[in-house]
Amino acid sequence: MYHERTKHSEERLRANPHHLDWDNQPVPFKLYRDLEPIPLPRQLDPGTVSALRAISTSIARETGPTEQVPDLQALARVLYYTAGIMKVRRSPGGDVYFRAAPNTGALYHVDLYLACRDLPDLPAGLYHFGVHDFALRRLRVGDYRGAFIEAAGVEPSLARAPVVLASASTYWRNAWKYRDRAYRHVFWDGGTLHANLLAVAAAQGLEPKVIAGFADRDIEHLLGLDPAREGALALVPLGRTAEPPVPARDAPVLNLETEPVSSREIDYPAIREIHSASSLEHGEEVARWRGAVLPRREPDPQSELFPLRPLAEADWPAEPLESVTLRRGSTRRFDVSRSLTFEELSTALAVATATIPADFTQGASSLLDLYVIAHAVEGLPPGAYYLRRTERALELLQAGDFRAIAGRLGLFQELPAAAGANVYCLADLERVLARFGNRGYRAAQLEGGIVGGRLYLAAYALRFGATGLTFLDDEVTEFFSPHAEGKSVMFLTALGRPVRRSPAPRSTQTV
Ligand SMILES: Cc1cc2nc3c(=O)[nH]c(=O)nc-3n(C[C@H](O)[C@H](O)[C@H](O)COP(=O)(O)O)c2cc1C
Repeated sequence: MYHERTKHSEERLRANPHHLDWDNQPVPFKLYRDLEPIPLPRQLDPGTVSALRAISTSIARETGPTEQVPDLQALARVLYYTAGIMKVRRSPGGDVYFRAAPNTGALYHVDLYLACRDLPDLPAGLYHFGVHDFALRRLRVGDYRGAFIEAAGVEPSLARAPVVLASASTYWRNAWKYRDRAYRHVFWDGGTLHANLLAVAAAQGLEPKVIAGFADRDIEHLLGLDPAREGALALVPLGRTAEPPVPARDAPVLNLETEPVSSREIDYPAIREIHSASSLEHGEEVARWRGAVLPRREPDPQSELFPLRPLAEADWPAEPLESVTLRRGSTRRFDVSRSLTFEELSTALAVATATIPADFTQGASSLLDLYVIAHAVEGLPPGAYYLRRTERALELLQAGDFRAIAGRLGLFQELPAAAGANVYCLADLERVLARFGNRGYRAAQLEGGIVGGRLYLAAYALRFGATGLTFLDDEVTEFFSPHAEGKSVMFLTALGRPVRRSPAPRSTQTV
């Protein structure tokens, strides 16, 4: 299976080193040749909703106004704080355009598209979001939402949305560095991106929801993707309207030329195979898939419980999500001499595990179990823990100083050893696949990315630091076993205080 064959182990890393071909480095943008840019507004309204609230209250409303139709200003904010360029690092080897959400290797292989009806200041169409020039490009003229809704088995929140966002990866832009493992990164990087998207859209009352179930071929066709090189990962409805969408219409084949990503591309068949094995065929299959729920299975506690001590909401930092997103960046060095507090760690864990509005989390369920190694958390003894979601407590699995082990588990890097705590998202893939079929693999990876992305945002909101990390798969499971027996790691986030102070927040919200 794909997961098994893309595991990192010390042995495999030694036996199979990879040297980057810098002359063939992919461009981190999808560039259409002949389409006119439609500039997005660059003067963005400042946000008002605090980051922690935006992350944790992104739950669809059951009641409220029936019309919530975003205009271009609202869409520009959503796109900018989801995937826009936050800062540029000039370097002789080429400039790096750092984006709103963290991304493996800063390679940015996930693009956003949007399908909409007529909006106050944007005609109905299917558009691509050009990150490089902050502009939309129209790929199709007219309202194609009906076709997206049909491909998603008439998912109710999509069916009432005036705007549908879609995301897709161009694999090679990541596989250049990570080879076969890039398919995991579709969902890790797509996940962190969706963490931002859910938060910024929720902050504007747009009721976003992650739809991971859709007929792949139909969506690939609608977006004009090249199925050998690109795959869609999720759909997200934005806003709501009482007006029914126009029915699905025939969509001609799109033959839009894009600039080559690099001079030559290497094909990784394993990526195409897992994508195809986890694909859904048609809307009816999607509708059946969507009913699945993974009941929580939590063995009785065997050891001491440390109830989480999250900050009261009244004490949450007031800084708006948008300003936190501008400050976010991966911590490059943690300060071993400065601890987190248990209140900070608890708050980050609580908001990151708040129910994710998604088609695979019905009934507030989750596909993940969280494990923690705490090195330096005031109020929590150093050790290995399991997060008991029902009791909102950390169960001590083993006390001890595991800095050296955490460094090894995080691929021999200093970051996980120096961090205050490491949070591992694990999934029991056997159970997940039994309920959700192969599509469950994508959903579990995506949920890992969303939790990781939320941890990043929460850390910066609380004024400490975070970084995503890669890991030695089986050794992480062994470390947390027997408790974690049979589970697989989906995502790892290190949390702690950075060595250097974070840069001052920017005063202007101009893109
Ligand atoms: C899933 C994931 C895994 C990552 N793994 C590592 C890692 O192993 N080591 C590291 O130094 N940074 C890692 N990063 C951080 C990325 O290098 C960073 O997100 C990227 O350079 C963009 O920079 P920014 O997060 O500061 O915007 C990871 C990020 C993600 C999202």
